[in-house]
Amino acid sequence: MAIQFNCVSSMLILVLLSISSVEGQGGGGGGVIDVVAKFGAKADGKTDLSKPLLDAWKEACASTSPAKIVIPKGIYFLSTATLDGPCKAPIELQVEGTVKAPANPVAFKEPKWITFNRIENFKLSGGGLFDGQGTTAYKREGCKNHDYCGSLPINLRFDFLTNAMIQDITTKDSKQFHVNVLGCKNITFEHFTISAPDESPNTDGIHIGRSDGVNVLNSEIKTGDDCVSIGDGSKNLVINGVTCGPGHGISIGSLGLFKNEEPVDGVTVKNCSFTNTSNGVRIKTWPGAERGTCSNIHFEDITVTNVSSPIIIDQKYCPWNKCKINEESKVKLSNISFKNIHGTSALPEAVKIICSATLPCENVELADIEITHSGPTGPAVSQCSNVKPKVSGKQNPAPCSAPLPAKPTPTA
Ligand SMILES: *[C@@H]1O[C@H](CO)[C@@H](O)[C@H](O)[C@H]1NC(C)=O
Ligand SMILES: *[C@@H]1O[C@H](CO)[C@@H](O)[C@H](O)[C@H]1NC(C)=O
Ligand SMILES: *[C@@H]1O[C@H](CO)[C@@H](O)[C@H](O)[C@H]1NC(C)=O
Ligand SMILES: *[C@@H]1O[C@H](CO)[C@@H](O)[C@H](O)[C@H]1NC(C)=O
Ligand SMILES: *[C@@H]1O[C@H](CO)[C@@H](O)[C@H](O)[C@H]1NC(C)=O
Repeated sequence: MAIQFNCVSSMLILVLLSISSVEGQGGGGGGVIDVVAKFGAKADGKTDLSKPLLDAWKEACASTSPAKIVIPKGIYFLSTATLDGPCKAPIELQVEGTVKAPANPVAFKEPKWITFNRIENFKLSGGGLFDGQGTTAYKREGCKNHDYCGSLPINLRFDFLTNAMIQDITTKDSKQFHVNVLGCKNITFEHFTISAPDESPNTDGIHIGRSDGVNVLNSEIKTGDDCVSIGDGSKNLVINGVTCGPGHGISIGSLGLFKNEEPVDGVTVKNCSFTNTSNGVRIKTWPGAERGTCSNIHFEDITVTNVSSPIIIDQKYCPWNKCKINEESKVKLSNISFKNIHGTSALPEAVKIICSATLPCENVELADIEITHSGPTGPAVSQCSNVKPKVSGKQNPAPCSAPLPAKPTPTA
């Protein structure tokens, strides 16, 4: 669902942490540090990896030459860990094994499991798996109205990292978002795999906020909520070669719920495919008073298969009755293109571009759209409001050809 309630408070905590963090002693060292061989970690699936990992991190982080920590093959239990920078040299965590979280949500005091914080030149690699063991959390009540959900732990948090590479890593069954990216500059996810069941609530794949230069490349995301969700303050993002489904698709927003949201500027989603998702590519903003902008957003070379809403701008996004649906959104959308998007829609409303009456969408482009729908509900249709898209190439359904329903149905 991609709403970050914890942003401000977690930033405060992080600022305090970084003020109190002790300068690394020693130096030199570097090389490869094996948590089992050197720090007595046990691959027995029950001994807490927390202390060996933090001890290894302390040594690696203090090293003045590049250092690598290895978690070898095997199954480990990790209660929780926050790995803080700044470090003296580039640092890598190579995870070859499977690291499991406590299954019981009560074990977590804060909404995080593993956090990487304020590190420059960081790499996470190794082909390993982070298992959030979320199955018990999915069954608990409370996510529907969204109040309890936000307190559940996020598998991996990347906070204020600069120049980071996350490669060949899997995250599974997170209790909340799988990955949260906050305040990062130049971070790349590549060959990154996310896996959670269709019915797992609020398990967004990668949520990005307040970050500049995030790349998600050649990755596979199966989850119960947004595949990638993009919050305010996101700039210069590239999502390429990502396959999504099941889940809710790639979403910008929701925007316009909170005060002082920063602009979203420059997002390219290219060469991606969506199967059995509720949305394909989406921008959503809340009706109401909060201002914002979202511009230079490009969706290109997209395949959709059995997607309920393949192309959707929804400026009347209003789940859980949290707003007055008759107000207009104050988030300005401009320079948005949808190019070469083809496949099948699970519902007739294949193209929906619902903009704000107060701030109509500007410079929206539809080029080469070919989305079919078959079934008793009739062929694919395209609906528009408060927008005059620039149209070129193939257009199926015919652009803006269908009337809007009196009451749009809100979808999370
Ligand atoms: C971005 O980060 C990567 C490491 O992941 C690094 O190799 C690259 O040089 C960085 N790019 C810039 C412009 O700093
Ligand atoms: C398109 O995405 C696929 C993965 O789905 C990847 O293998 C391929 O390299 C990407 N192509 C380009 C041109 O980026
Ligand atoms: C999509 O859903 C259908 C029907 O449930 C299923 O058979 C198919 O495997 C799903 N495709 C993917 C890629 O998950
Ligand atoms: C399409 O996706 C829906 C879930 O959104 C699923 O129930 C249905 O079986 C899928 N149909 C096909 C043909 O894959
Ligand atoms: C929209 O695109 C035009 C042409 O590329 C550019 O001049 C303008 O600054 C863009 N608008 C925004 C809000 O970025």
